Amino acid sequence: MIVHDQERQTFTLNTRRTTYQMKVDEYGVLLHTYYGRRVESRDLSGLVRYADRGFAPNPSEAGGRREYSLDILPQEYSTSGVGDFRLSSAEVELPDGSCLLDLRFTGAQVREGKYGLEGLPAFHGEGWETLSVTLRDPSSGLEVELLYGVWEEEDLITRAVRVTNAGAAAVRLRRVMSLCLDFCRGDLDMITFDGGHARERWPSRMPLRPGVQGVGSARGVSSHQHNPFVVLCERDAGEDHGMCWGAALLYSGGFTAQAERSQFEDVRLVMGPSPLCWTLAPGETFTAPEAALVCSPDGLTGMSHRFHRAVRRRLIRDPYEGRRRPVLVNNWEATYFDFNARKLLDLAGAAAPLGIELLVMDDGWFGQRNDDLRGLGDWVVNESKLPGGLEALVPQVKALGMRFGLWVEPEMVNEDSDLFRAHPDWALGAPGRPRARGRGQLVLDFSRQEVRAHIYDALKKVLDSAEVSYLKWDMNRSLTDVWSMALPADRQGELCHRYVLGVYEMLEQLRRDYPDMLIEGCSGGGGRFDLGMLYYTPQIWCSDNTDAIDRLKIQYGTSFCYPVSCVGSHVSVSPNEQNGRVTPMETRGVVAMGGTFGYEMDLGRCTEEERSVIRRQTADYKRHSRLIQEGDYYRLTDPFQAGDFTAWEHAGPDGREALVSLVNGATRAAPPFFSLRLKGLDPARRYRINGGEQLWGGDVLMYAGYPVPTPWGDYQSTQLYLEAVEESE
Ligand code: GLA
Repeated sequence: MIVHDQERQTFTLNTRRTTYQMKVDEYGVLLHTYYGRRVESRDLSGLVRYADRGFAPNPSEAGGRREYSLDILPQEYSTSGVGDFRLSSAEVELPDGSCLLDLRFTGAQVREGKYGLEGLPAFHGEGWETLSVTLRDPSSGLEVELLYGVWEEEDLITRAVRVTNAGAAAVRLRRVMSLCLDFCRGDLDMITFDGGHARERWPSRMPLRPGVQGVGSARGVSSHQHNPFVVLCERDAGEDHGMCWGAALLYSGGFTAQAERSQFEDVRLVMGPSPLCWTLAPGETFTAPEAALVCSPDGLTGMSHRFHRAVRRRLIRDPYEGRRRPVLVNNWEATYFDFNARKLLDLAGAAAPLGIELLVMDDGWFGQRNDDLRGLGDWVVNESKLPGGLEALVPQVKALGMRFGLWVEPEMVNEDSDLFRAHPDWALGAPGRPRARGRGQLVLDFSRQEVRAHIYDALKKVLDSAEVSYLKWDMNRSLTDVWSMALPADRQGELCHRYVLGVYEMLEQLRRDYPDMLIEGCSGGGGRFDLGMLYYTPQIWCSDNTDAIDRLKIQYGTSFCYPVSCVGSHVSVSPNEQNGRVTPMETRGVVAMGGTFGYEMDLGRCTEEERSVIRRQTADYKRHSRLIQEGDYYRLTDPFQAGDFTAWEHAGPDGREALVSLVNGATRAAPPFFSLRLKGLDPARRYRINGGEQLWGGDVLMYAGYPVPTPWGDYQSTQLYLEAVEESE
């Protein structure tokens, strides 16, 4: 609930378990007074400290009050150049060349429902309240609207920022952060989620040190290297205890997430799109993308659960909110570019009797796309591979009992393509300067409407030619040579953000035209795995690394913010095609069930024994899909710590059922005994495990643990299905 206390000039955002508060002070400065465990106080400004400290400037209205300094006070949206030397939230270049921004309160409004953001992803749905606070720089007339959405039930607070030029001349925005969050304490850790291609989102946890630290992406996409999600937490916070603050950006372009521990041991966190250089003409508004905040007083698991529920219920849109995703087979690792209709139908024919529901035709079906050097941009079916096009292929796939899905990479072009030969200026790149290729391809200028329209029309023709139930939208390089034919010199700095807006616009159009088609995002695996994409694509291919053992770490890191129902995960061949590791089929299945389950291998070459394993896996997955996708996800062990097992659990509502998965690493002789303490059960209930005779108390399983049998062999796995027995039993 949002409470505006007119008398004290405070705004309190209460959720079930947390309180967030700000206060307008006597000079109109918007102070941030608190964000943490819920407290019942309408004015927490007593927590704010004032002190006369050296080299801490005082605003002119403060007169002789040397203890009043913006450099010391916790602020809701920090300024630049006027006395606060910590991280700024916004930076501008004004018509007179000055870069000064002072923000003072002018008004606020509380309303029912959730604000929306034109052209940008945003949380939505029922149960929200919105607070809008307007600040103004008195000298330039620049207005900043701070938007807050409060979803009380899951302790979610969203933020977004609109900057409007109310002056008479253009100003240039150099930085507009989506959020700024001040903490009156310095003893915090920061967790970031880092890695690279095929090694995404490994958690990295460090105590905040003095000064600025952070992560970001200058690649034009959110990136494999650093995820736009960070956590600040108490030094001793763990899965089940301690204060944690998670912040995620709903944005798929370049970003920055920075924390600063200041000279007085306080902390400021900022997060927003980056780099930015945006010219704002008089009357125009720039909107910084939404950020989502969760404060968890009960550790990292509680934080993740809140994000998971919020994403599932208030970000993913109909009809995929809560809908079971199809078990699919993708032909990429089965055939790479070397396929034709026969091979695809053979794959579909092998898949259908195994319980697989959808065939995805990956890269290579269009233009002259026989390798990764040509064809991108020519979205016309290659009839030498697929005679008669999709019109001929898809009904045959359907006749086998399978639905059909398609891979596309709309944002890209190869120089060896009809599209590039006709429109060389449609690719990003400055005239007279050789362009860098990535995977042999260039990036189309998606800031341009005519480029988007051409690609959309071409894709539409293909999509309209048959029943396409699923689309994999890929994006396989970082942006370089960021220059557009369509923008004047002084607006080239806007290109990266305009590009992202262009991608969002086309995705929205696809959603409108094909509301039932499931779109899976992808960028060389998880190079654009963010809440922004999830608004349009309810699931994202988690990583090009399909090795089950590497995936344990990737999926573990991904789970801190993102729910299982969004994480694309498939069983592939062994030895694995990325690292040569040999793993049992059972284990590959168990790990793929930690996401949206599917296969990515030549099923026609499986042995009868493998086929029976697959049949069992698809049946198990379907049986447990609700529990897996909608249950509470618990990280039971940390795969980055030494230990023989990685384990996780999906627990159903009210402790009625749970599914526990365990995978052991490379084996060793005479290992220590291991008991796995489960979570999320009802301590008062008794459980049957995998239909066995013996009953186990929920309290015993949670407090003493389940005695895990000693593993035999490398990379083995176990799944335990727990069902609470009725008390009469
Ligand atoms: C990317 C994707 C893969 C596959 C290939 C096709 O690498 O992540 O899954 O679709 O492109 O070229």
